[in-house]
Amino acid sequence: MGWKDWARGTEIEPSIYAADFARLGDDLGALLDAGAKIFQFDVGDGHFVEPITIGPIVLKWISPLFRERGGILDVHLMVDDPVRHFRAFADAGADSVTAHLEVVGDDVAGAAREARQLGLGFGIAFNPETAVEEAVPAAEHVDLLLCMGVHPGYSGQAYIPETTERVRRLRELLRSELPIQVDGGVGLENVQELREAGASLFVAGSSVFDGIDPPAAYRRLADAVS
Ligand code: DX5
Repeated sequence: MGWKDWARGTEIEPSIYAADFARLGDDLGALLDAGAKIFQFDVGDGHFVEPITIGPIVLKWISPLFRERGGILDVHLMVDDPVRHFRAFADAGADSVTAHLEVVGDDVAGAAREARQLGLGFGIAFNPETAVEEAVPAAEHVDLLLCMGVHPGYSGQAYIPETTERVRRLRELLRSELPIQVDGGVGLENVQELREAGASLFVAGSSVFDGIDPPAAYRRLADAVS
């Protein structure tokens, strides 16, 4: 199994980083009930990005729920030296890892090989200041390309409007149907324009978890792009 099976079409991916951790299991169960299939798990190391977020110890407690229910855990590694951590995330129950182009540099093929040897899917993320063109050569080695809609680090930041044109440009430059994922500032106000620009995987943190009813917020986003 891999991204081709997991993401057949458009998916809204709740970002666990934005969740209320006192009720995490209940909220994740309710989101799976509401139809969410893929969830993003954001890892920040306090170095590549400012905050220290969550890591394998949290993942290992929630991954059995995903195993039982058929959900997918898509780990976004906002860290330096990401390859060093692949095994810990695989052991904790991750399905895929996405590393940043800004730290992987020329060795996208090597990082992809390491991930796949551990049975993980593999994606490459790139920051708002990285030219879209620089991400294109990674396409032949990955399951998805992640175009950041904010500077990575924190949930709840304002969407950078130029992201939509960057997604459109990336879609034009890619010769394949490779999924384009967008993360940061995604909500009801921009998810349709991003879909029209050629993205199909939408990470949604605060737009899902910031209200009193995350499953209802998820459904509104999913309906907006269905
Ligand atoms: C951005 C993180 C995000 C974040 C998205 O630094 O990678 O996944 O949780 O949160 P929102 O949707 O609130 O921007």
